[in-house]
Amino acid sequence: VMSLKGRDFLTLLDFSTEEILDLLALAADLKAKQKAGVSYTPLSGKTMAMIFEKPSTRTRVSFEVGMIQLGGQAMYLNGNDLQLGRGETIADTARVLSQYVDVIMIRTFAHQKVEELAEYASVPVINGLTDDDHPCQALADLLTIYEVKKTFQGVKLAYVGDGNNVANALLVAAAKVGMDVAIACPPGYEPKKEYVEAACRIGEQTGAAVTVTHDPLVAVAGADAIYTDVWTSMGQESESAERLQVFQPYQVNEELVKAAKPDYLFLHCLPAHRGEEVTAGVMDGPNSVVFEQAGNRLHAQKAILLSVL
Ligand code: CP
Ligand code: NVA
Repeated sequence: VMSLKGRDFLTLLDFSTEEILDLLALAADLKAKQKAGVSYTPLSGKTMAMIFEKPSTRTRVSFEVGMIQLGGQAMYLNGNDLQLGRGETIADTARVLSQYVDVIMIRTFAHQKVEELAEYASVPVINGLTDDDHPCQALADLLTIYEVKKTFQGVKLAYVGDGNNVANALLVAAAKVGMDVAIACPPGYEPKKEYVEAACRIGEQTGAAVTVTHDPLVAVAGADAIYTDVWTSMGQESESAERLQVFQPYQVNEELVKAAKPDYLFLHCLPAHRGEEVTAGVMDGPNSVVFEQAGNRLHAQKAILLSVL
C-alpha cells in the first residue's frame, strides 16, 4: 500500500497523477480479489464514522460495505441527529470523533466545512460529496473508463449538463490522468472557476485538453465517453422549475450521442432522472455503463480507505 497513510481525501487536486494511478491500480486489485471470493481484512479493528447532511444511496452503502469487507466497521451518523445539528461546531465534532474512530467520511454542503473538519480532526477525513466536489465519484469514474478503454491517453470525456460538484471533480480527475475533457453547460452554470483554471494548468503538464463550452455538440464531438448528472443537485430544490427549462437543450438523447464515437460509453453518477438529463433509451441502452460505474464506487473507496489508514 502506498504512502498516503494519514492523508485526507478532500479533492483530487491534492493528489498527484502517480498517486491517482496507484489508487486506481489498487482499486482494480481489490476488485479482482473480491470477484475471486478472496477474503482480505487488513482493516480489522478499524472504525469509520460517516456523517451525512444530505441523502445518499451509493456513497453510504458502498462505504459501509467496503469497510466491512476490509475487516473494519462503519457507523452511519445523520448530521441532524448529532449535536452538530444543534450548533456544536465542526471543529469540536472533529476533535471528539478523532478520539473514537480511525477515519471520518462526511457528506455536506459547503466545501469549507469538510476542510474545517479535516483541519481539526487528527484522523483522515474523506469527502463523500460537497457542493463543490465529489472526489470518490471521480475516482470510480476513472476506474470505469480505464477498465473499458485500457488507457486515458487520447480518450475524450464529454460532460453535458450542470457545472456542479461532479463536473468540477471530473475536470480535475481527467486533467490529472491526461484524459481530454469537454464540459458543455448553459451560460451561468459553468463549473467553478478555480476548478477550470486548475484543470487547464494540470492539463498543460499531462497533455489533457480541457474545454468548457455552451455547445453540447462541441463537447460530444468524437467523444469516447459521455457523462451527465442531475439538473438539480441536493440543496437546489427551490431552483428546480427554472433549471428544468434552462437545461432542456443539454439533454443527453439519441440525437446528441450521434456526435460521439459509435462505441462511446455513457456514464452517470446516479441517481438519474430519465426524461430529464438523459433519455431512457441512452440510460438503459447498450453503451451505458452506469451500473458498473456505481459498482466501482465500492472498489475505489476501498482503495482510498486502505491507503489512508
Ligand atoms: N453518486 C452518488 O454519490 O450517489 P449517492 O448520492 O446515492 O451516494
Ligand atoms: N450533483 C449531484 C450529485 C449526486 C450524487 C448532487 O450534488 O446532488
